[in-house]
Amino acid sequence: MILSIGDVLNAAEVANAVSVLNKARFVDGRATAGFAARAVKSNAQARESEDIETLREMIADRLRANAVFEMAARPKRFIGPMFSRYRVNDAYGEHVDEPIMDGARTDISFTLFLSPPETYDGGELIIASPAGEDAVKLPAGSVIVYPSTTLHRVAPVTRGERLAAVGWVRSFIRDAAQRELLFELDTARRQLFEREGSSQTFNLVSKSLANLIRMWSED
Ligand code: NI
Repeated sequence: MILSIGDVLNAAEVANAVSVLNKARFVDGRATAGFAARAVKSNAQARESEDIETLREMIADRLRANAVFEMAARPKRFIGPMFSRYRVNDAYGEHVDEPIMDGARTDISFTLFLSPPETYDGGELIIASPAGEDAVKLPAGSVIVYPSTTLHRVAPVTRGERLAAVGWVRSFIRDAAQRELLFELDTARRQLFEREGSSQTFNLVSKSLANLIRMWSED
């Protein structure tokens, strides 16, 4: 399941993130890529600092507080995010993300867009699927969430500058199809609650959801 979620950060939080990144030092993004990805990666990444660490924690907090993200990702642990900057002619060719980072399995990848889309051309995140390619470019403060199992790339930037936070989630649910099923069941259950409150039907659906999570989760 590929899911976009709007307004994870509000305008003030986006402005703060951009201001921190404008003051940050950037290094060649190839430093954090595997040997094959390195050959196709051309961007810059913010170097570690206290301000970057604070920004990283703020973004993880906002994602955890977002009910749709929580239902879609069921995060056990966050890896990153790191902050990437693409300028004209920068791009990231097709690659798959590393399966293990910082000692954790990467189940879900996310990109939180920080630059307004009208300020740059190109720079779409392009995710390959059996049905073709999905090209994604979202408003600043919105996030795209997709399985780390996919091949994906970032199209060349041809004008302006693209800032984004890129991170990963170790989910309690390893399998993308199971995560999608739980997401849909949970969504239907919430709609049921809005319609009829804590009915017997709602309680049965809640029980099924809880017990499927028990069956499938890895803690
Ligand atoms: Ni990637």
